[in-house]
Amino acid sequence: MKQVILLGAPGSGKGTQAKLMVSELNFNHLSTGDLLRAEVAKKSDLGNRISDLINSGALVDDDTVLELLRVNIDLANGQYIFDGFPRNIEQAKALDKEVLGSAESKALYFDLDLSIIKERIINRRSCRDCGNIYNLLISAPGKDGVCDSCGGEVYQRRDDNAEVVENRLNVFKSTIDPVLEYYRGKGILTSLDASLSPDDVSTQIHDILG
Ligand code: AP5
Ligand code: MG
Repeated sequence: MKQVILLGAPGSGKGTQAKLMVSELNFNHLSTGDLLRAEVAKKSDLGNRISDLINSGALVDDDTVLELLRVNIDLANGQYIFDGFPRNIEQAKALDKEVLGSAESKALYFDLDLSIIKERIINRRSCRDCGNIYNLLISAPGKDGVCDSCGGEVYQRRDDNAEVVENRLNVFKSTIDPVLEYYRGKGILTSLDASLSPDDVSTQIHDILG
């Protein structure tokens, strides 16, 4: 049984593929972005403290995110997808030391030209209730603003605008290399071509995970 870590730029398709992996391969999905946004929506103390950070595209501090991860995971419960975590080398090391321990894991890097990211992110819409992800250009909901899967409200994330995307990409570019180096050194990193269609990316994941 392998735990799977999804690495890639904002908008590279991690959440889209994680949803497919849950339904087709029986994974549990753990997205730190989704967990943090849920805290903001609840207006919890944590949510109020981090909402400006998230909306500006900056990272939340490592200890907060790690704690959130810890309380939402039970490795005895099966295979997990780590989506959006780790974001930097400190988180990568903490994930091994404090969460995964001796559990076998694999890291998948969603590789794509960053010039297409902006278009993807600005056209993303998400369901507030079930988290379904839409792209207005290739997979818009049948009825404007209404989720095809659950009938929930389809909305645009506050950090999905041209200015904040720029910040998110800069954060990504300044943190990703040591993370890739870390997993390459452990011999568990595989890159996939994330510029292909969602179906073709999914096929690559099935092939990699065997
Ligand atoms: P997070 O929620 O993790 O956002 P992100 O990393 O910026 O990634 P996204 O969710 O934007 O992209 P995705 O790769 O999931 O793409 P998706 O599948 O949706 O983090 C948000 C914020 O939370 C951070 O900025 C930070 O503040 C905080 N945070 C989270 N984790 C943290 C951590 N560990 N430490 C500290 N802070 C943390 O697809 C995008 C769009 O493209 C969609 O419209 C989709 O339909 C479309 N699409 C997907 N695949 C394809 C395809 N193959 N072809 C065409 N379109 C596609
Ligand atoms: Mg996502």
